[in-house]
Amino acid sequence: MYNSKIIGLGKYLPDNVVTNDDLSKMMDTNDEWITERTGIKERRWVKPGSGDTTATMGVKAAKQAIERAGIDKDDIDFIVFATLSPDMYFPGPGVQVQHALGIKTVGALDVRNQCSGFIYALSVADNFIKTGMYKNILVIGSELHSHGLDKTTRGRGVTVIFGDGAGAAVLTREEDTTKGVLSTHLHSQGEHAEELVLVAPGMGKRWVNDILADKDPNDESYFPHMNGQFVFKNAVVRFSEVIMEGLMQNKLGKEDISMLIPHQANLRIAQFIQKKFALSNDQVYNNIMRYGNTTAASIPIALTEAWEEGKIKEGDNVVLAAFGSGFTWGSAIIKW
Ligand code: UT7
Repeated sequence: MYNSKIIGLGKYLPDNVVTNDDLSKMMDTNDEWITERTGIKERRWVKPGSGDTTATMGVKAAKQAIERAGIDKDDIDFIVFATLSPDMYFPGPGVQVQHALGIKTVGALDVRNQCSGFIYALSVADNFIKTGMYKNILVIGSELHSHGLDKTTRGRGVTVIFGDGAGAAVLTREEDTTKGVLSTHLHSQGEHAEELVLVAPGMGKRWVNDILADKDPNDESYFPHMNGQFVFKNAVVRFSEVIMEGLMQNKLGKEDISMLIPHQANLRIAQFIQKKFALSNDQVYNNIMRYGNTTAASIPIALTEAWEEGKIKEGDNVVLAAFGSGFTWGSAIIKW
């Protein structure tokens, strides 16, 4: 058995900055409400026609991660792409990355686990490397939410939160099993699937034929729906549980955490977890103020920025944790 370790990180954020004041011109909302409830001041939204898509943003982040890893694209053995906002209903963006990067015909897997998508993708990659099946795996999280949000007052409870962007990591085989990804922990609770959901088009409830037949301008089924308070309450519990699970598995205590990179769902959630684990401001990396919630992209973007800013050093215990639609949640404990 081997371990896997991250040897390259990359990110891509579209240029177009949308502030809370910009949103207040589209819908009945305001900077004070958004800042107080979420911590978000601005987010990036892809300008229609700019050419950025979930796949192309993922490719840009991946190029940077591969370059920083110092490997050749032909050394990549497998691709894992996490997103809830693929360019096409099918196929998923993994194959678009394989083509765009001109990587040989390696496997490309798409992960559909929303805010936990990157942790699930990392876990898959880690386990393929652990067993020796692959040596170098490209893991991407990318989202283009903005084109699919309800930008009227009706959608304000969801729309103000989400942003676009991409992050990527290259994982490689590590022979020293005390280093790299020490463990990953994944969970789900499908009874709450519809508390944070985008229903249509979906075979179970509203497929394309229903939408076309109804031609209902008030149909909200193809906009995301979130029961915010319920999601919030579950998030704080599950974040804490799954971080503890990871620490205990590795016989670590909260005092051993060097850096926590929480999925950027809400600054209030991150602050709650920070307090619960008695961490200082320097031990928790947040960038939701600038990017909003970028779902599967949020952890790899934050991890990349923390690393770029020199906040992660060799030997650090880095903890990643996420919770979101599904519900799904997970954590990863990494010895850097
Ligand atoms: O990443 C996946 C996981 N996601 C999360 O973890 C998100 C968890 N949930 C949250 O972060 C919070 O629930 C939200 C930030 C989404 C909402 O905050 P809240 O304190 O739970 O607000 P609420 O939904 O209970 O709404 C309170 C009020 C309502 O008005 P009334 O009924 O009290 O008159 C809403 O209509 O705020 C209103 N409201 C808004 N007002 C101004 C909802 N959205 C907005 C808005 N601007 N954008």
